[in-house]
Amino acid sequence: MEQSIKDSTIAMNKARVIGNYICNNKNQLGVGLMCTVYEAKHLETNNYVALKQISKKAIKEKKLTAERLKESYDLEIKILQKCKKSNNKNVISLLDHFETSEHYNIVLELCDQNLKEYIEQKENKRLTEEEAVDILIQIVEGQKCLHEINYCHRDIKPENILVKGGVIKITDVNLAKYIENMLTKTCSFVGTQFYIAPEVDKKQYYSPYKADIYSLGVVFYEMLYGLLSKQEKNVNFKEKIERSTLQISDILKQLILKMIQEDPNDRADWSWVSSCIYQYLINKSTNSHSIQVISSFYFNAWQEKYQFLKQIIEDLCLLQIKNENIFLYQSGLLIIKLIIQLVEEKVVELQNATKISDAEFYKSELKLLSIYRYEYLRVVQNWYQQQMDEKKKLLCNSEHLKDEFKYIERSKQFDRHFQRYLVEFCNQLNDLEYKEDRLKLQKKLLQLKLIVACDQKNDFELVQTLLSSRLQSQGNYILSFVQHLQDLRIVEEYMRELQPVIDQILNEG
Ligand SMILES: Nc1ncnc2c1ncn2[C@@H]1O[C@H](COP(=O)(O)OP(=O)(O)O)[C@@H](O)[C@H]1O
Ligand SMILES: [Mg+2]
Repeated sequence: MEQSIKDSTIAMNKARVIGNYICNNKNQLGVGLMCTVYEAKHLETNNYVALKQISKKAIKEKKLTAERLKESYDLEIKILQKCKKSNNKNVISLLDHFETSEHYNIVLELCDQNLKEYIEQKENKRLTEEEAVDILIQIVEGQKCLHEINYCHRDIKPENILVKGGVIKITDVNLAKYIENMLTKTCSFVGTQFYIAPEVDKKQYYSPYKADIYSLGVVFYEMLYGLLSKQEKNVNFKEKIERSTLQISDILKQLILKMIQEDPNDRADWSWVSSCIYQYLINKSTNSHSIQVISSFYFNAWQEKYQFLKQIIEDLCLLQIKNENIFLYQSGLLIIKLIIQLVEEKVVELQNATKISDAEFYKSELKLLSIYRYEYLRVVQNWYQQQMDEKKKLLCNSEHLKDEFKYIERSKQFDRHFQRYLVEFCNQLNDLEYKEDRLKLQKKLLQLKLIVACDQKNDFELVQTLLSSRLQSQGNYILSFVQHLQDLRIVEEYMRELQPVIDQILNEG
C-alpha cells in the first residue's frame, strides 16, 4: 500500500522535495533521538505541515537497530490512525505517511511550538494557575483518547506536548504501550529523566497508567513552578513546593504531590486528578464550560460513590470533634458498613472478571475498613449501652438497629434501616448549632450528603431526577458536585428539592 518515493533533492535554496512536500532544511522544528522534524509545504495545496523523518538505517551510537526504527514508525502510525477516528483535538493529527529510500516520513499537523518552548518564552518562565489547569485538562483529554484505544503514552514530558493556537496536542507516541486491561503490568524501561516514575526507574513491574500520571505530575509542577534544570539530580518536589514563595492554590499543590507519590498505590489515579481539577474549578467558579468538559471524563461511577461515602465519614469525624454534644459515630458505623458492602461486591465482581490484582487491592482496602468498623463499633456499643441504661429515646429504635450497633455484620434489614436511620439523623442535625460559618456550611452539606447517600441503593436515580434541571447546567456529576458546594443558600435549595427522598423513606418505614 505504501508508496516508496525516492528522496529527490533539488538545488533551489537547499529546499528538498520529499514526496508531495517541499521542505527547507533551515526550518527544522526539532531533532529527536531517531528523527528530525521539519516544517514543510504541500506542493499542491500549499498547506504547511510538520514532516517527521525517521532514519531507516540503524543508528549505532544510539543502539537503534533498523528493526527498532521500523517498529517505532509502524507504532506511531497505527496509534495516530486510531486516534484520528475519535476526532480528539488533543492528540496530534496524522495527515499522511510514506517511505522514501532513506526515511520513514510522518506528516503531522503543524504546531507553533512545544510546551517546553512555550513555558520558556513566558516572562516569568512559568504559567498562571488558570492556564496550567487548562493545559492539564487538555493533556488529560488527550490521554483519555490514548487510553480508550488501550495505549499508555509512557513518555509524557513538555517536549512531547505541542501547542497550536492555545490548543494542546499530545505527540511522539512511539514509546506507547498497548494495554490489555487496567491490570497489565509492564517491565520495560522507557521514559525520560525527571518524568520517569520511580517504579519504572527501578525496573520493577509497574502499571503504565500510574507511570503516566507521575510524568504528568512533573509536567504540571513545571507549568506552575517553572522548568526543572537538567543539572538537577534527585529533585525533592515536596521541599521545593514548600519552600517556594509563589502563591499556588493548596489544592493544586496537593494534586501535584499526589500525582508524584513514590508508591504507585498511593498515587492519584485518573478519577482523583479529575476530581481535584473539578474542585479547583468550582472553588474558582470559572465558567461552567470548563466544568462541563472536566465532568465528562474519567469518572468511574463506582469510584465516585466510594470516595463520596468515605468523605461522609471524614465529615462526621470532623463535626464530632467540634461538637461533643451530639454523637455521630453510630451514623459513621452505618456508612462504614455500607462502604464495606460496596467493596465486598466489587471484590467479587473483579474476581469473576479475573482481575485478580485489582481484587487484591480492594481486599487490602477491606482490611483497613474492617479496622475502622471495629473501632466505631466499640465506641457505639458503649454509647448504646449507656443510652439503654439511662432509658433514653433512640433514633429509629428497633430490634434490628440494635443488632446493627452490637455486631460487626450487617443485619438482614440493613438497607432499610440504614436509610431510615440516616434520614432521622439528618433531621436531628437541625438542632446542632455552630457559630463558625465554615462549620455551619459543613453541617448543612453533611445533611445534604446523607440524603444523597440514602439514595445510593437506587444508584442515585431519584436524586438525579429531582435535581435534573440543575445538573444539566452543572454537568452530570452529582456526587462531586454536591461534595464541593460552597454556598449555604444553594445547599439549602438542594435540600428542599430533595425532600421527596426523605418523604419516601419515612413513608416506607
Ligand atoms: N507537528 C509538529 N509541529 C511543530 N513542531 C513539532 C511537531 N512535531 C514535532 N515537533 C518538534 O520536534 C520535536 C521532536 O519531535 P518528536 O515527535 O517528539 O520526536 P522524537 O521522537 O524524536 O522525540 C518536538 O519536541 C517538537 O519540538
Ligand atoms: Mg519527543
